[in-house]
Amino acid sequence: MVKDPEKENVYWPSENLKEKAWISDAKIYEKARRDPKAFWAEKAKETLDWFEEWEKIEEWNPPYFNWFIGSKTNLAYNCLDRHLEENRNKTALIWEPEPPEEQQRLLTYQDLYEQVSKFANALKDLGIKKGDPITFWMPMIPETAIAALACQRIGAWHSIVYTAFSPNAVKDRMEDAESRNLITADAFFRGGKTLKLKEKIDRVLEEIGAKNCIVVNRAKTDPPMKKGRDHFYNEIVSDEEPYCEPEPIGAEDISFLLYTSGTTGKPKGIKHSCGAYATQAALTTKWVFDLHPQDIFFSTADIGWITGHSYSLYGPLLNGGTVLWYEGSPYHPEPDRWWKIIDENKVNIFYTAPTAIRALRRKGDEWVEKHDLKSLRILGSVGEPIDPDTWGWFFEKVGGKRCPIVDTYWQTETGGIIITSIPGIGPFIPSVAGPAVPGIKYDVFDVTGKPTEPGTSGKVVLKHPFGPGMLRGVHKAPDKYKEEYWSEYGDEIYFTGDGGRKIDMEIGEQNLIEITGRIDDVLEVAGHRLGTAEIEDAISSLAEITEVAVVGKPHDVKGEVPAVFAVTKSDIDLERREEELKRKIVEIVRKKIGPVATPDATYFVSDVPKTESGKVIRRFLKSLLKDEKLGDVTTVSNPRCLKELAKKVNYKGPEKIVSFTT
Ligand code: PRX
Repeated sequence: MVKDPEKENVYWPSENLKEKAWISDAKIYEKARRDPKAFWAEKAKETLDWFEEWEKIEEWNPPYFNWFIGSKTNLAYNCLDRHLEENRNKTALIWEPEPPEEQQRLLTYQDLYEQVSKFANALKDLGIKKGDPITFWMPMIPETAIAALACQRIGAWHSIVYTAFSPNAVKDRMEDAESRNLITADAFFRGGKTLKLKEKIDRVLEEIGAKNCIVVNRAKTDPPMKKGRDHFYNEIVSDEEPYCEPEPIGAEDISFLLYTSGTTGKPKGIKHSCGAYATQAALTTKWVFDLHPQDIFFSTADIGWITGHSYSLYGPLLNGGTVLWYEGSPYHPEPDRWWKIIDENKVNIFYTAPTAIRALRRKGDEWVEKHDLKSLRILGSVGEPIDPDTWGWFFEKVGGKRCPIVDTYWQTETGGIIITSIPGIGPFIPSVAGPAVPGIKYDVFDVTGKPTEPGTSGKVVLKHPFGPGMLRGVHKAPDKYKEEYWSEYGDEIYFTGDGGRKIDMEIGEQNLIEITGRIDDVLEVAGHRLGTAEIEDAISSLAEITEVAVVGKPHDVKGEVPAVFAVTKSDIDLERREEELKRKIVEIVRKKIGPVATPDATYFVSDVPKTESGKVIRRFLKSLLKDEKLGDVTTVSNPRCLKELAKKVNYKGPEKIVSFTT
């Protein structure tokens, strides 16, 4: 990397990097801006094979749109079949199991192709067909990739649920999707422990009346199996043919559902398309990570999140790349596991989240220094803003000041990366994500919908034509779709839910942007997205609690963590029961949502700030936790409670506590 001679903390790609990069001329931004639809159509033809080409590139009926109308393609075909002629024996997936004594598994494109076909045939034999939802509660094992691709092959919709969500969370998502089929594993390994899945989900299978449960016998733990309903993966694929005709998937069809948290109590089933989604996933993988045929791409993102879909699976395979999956914890058996994996496998591209970088940094530099990481060429960050200090450590200790850090901003809804600097163009600036990727238009609006000037904070929005990877709606909830994304500035402007600031620097005639984080009621806990309303719903189900508000509290490693403000029934003796109730709150959240949402702090209070109409004003709770100025408190109908709250959270901000009592 080359340091900017004038601007502090600004880096540009070296000549070497530019020479190698797919994209190194900023004119691409202008070209894409002139005609974004034509740009995406050209890239769709270059990056994918289509069974039938489109009659029309894009159609827009705000807030709905569709890309490549009339086209047909298949995601599994594009990830596998078309690479066979030249790359049959190339490794597609390197799988690193957690137990260090266990052998790595390598799957070539031919292996994957055959196994995907076999599993696709097995799914068909179970009666699963195009348009059927299938829920996954699967760890990072090769069968998860195989099963996802098999769904794509036959046009069934996978709905993958993160394994750190609870069985109840799986149930909610199965019910919403009307899914009666589950794929899971007996157990998997994490942090040296055997974590059971099948046994834990049995109750849910009964409750929803599941038709099929396919079980990968990963840890050989002898899970309970119900005759007729439960099938071992190995047994159902053993006699299947290694070829399955790929189903043609149309532009209006869905290729998968992925549940994510929004501002309402229930997670939303985000619908993604096939060919259009794949176009953005493929192009951004190639350009943003500068993926070349011989590269090894290690994305630490779990398949339960959109990053796992687009960059641990589809994007790299669409490009004929080699992707590396690791099953377990970065600390097992020691906190250098990721660095060891990079060293031993000569990884070239490494994509992870700031929270993980912060956590590993705390373990000490010696763990990184022990390993030769010179194979790395590109580093990527995702999930939350990366603070300059963490950026600096990642850049220096992991990337040896050689590798650009692509700070990739996007969402479950956008399907692929929308804002980031590109390796061969730059610039790379700590905490600045970059310009929009070619073909995407972003802006930052003030409350009235006017674009802000550089340096002024506002709301990050996207403008038409949105990238082809963009969501196609919320499953069975058109109102939620409109309300959540298309109501802030009307139905032609997509509101991301994030705050941001343009900076006074341009690339390709567009300002770079700094993303400052969510400004709606959504948390990013260790890069995992959770709705405050979801956590509140879980806690409100406790009989002892009458009112609850959940907000994000800053955390050194995780970025933010859920903090709970709870009001108990008047007859509860808090002095005696405080600890017990705190435990109950943690338990109910873990049970209803999962360990990922565990509250970090609970404050029992006599009231929470509300508007005249009784709506909780979380903004004040957040400011109190962050020691920030509270601003205008005249909208609070019960300002006295602020004094108690300030005391509870040990507020050290600029506001005088006494002023809240008036
Ligand atoms: O708040 C932004 C944050 O993650 C949110 C999207 O979460 P999710 O749909 O789970 O997808 C995460 C992975 C794409 C965004 O609304 N976010 C994501 N990437 C960044 C980020 N915040 C700042 N900088 C980023 N690079």
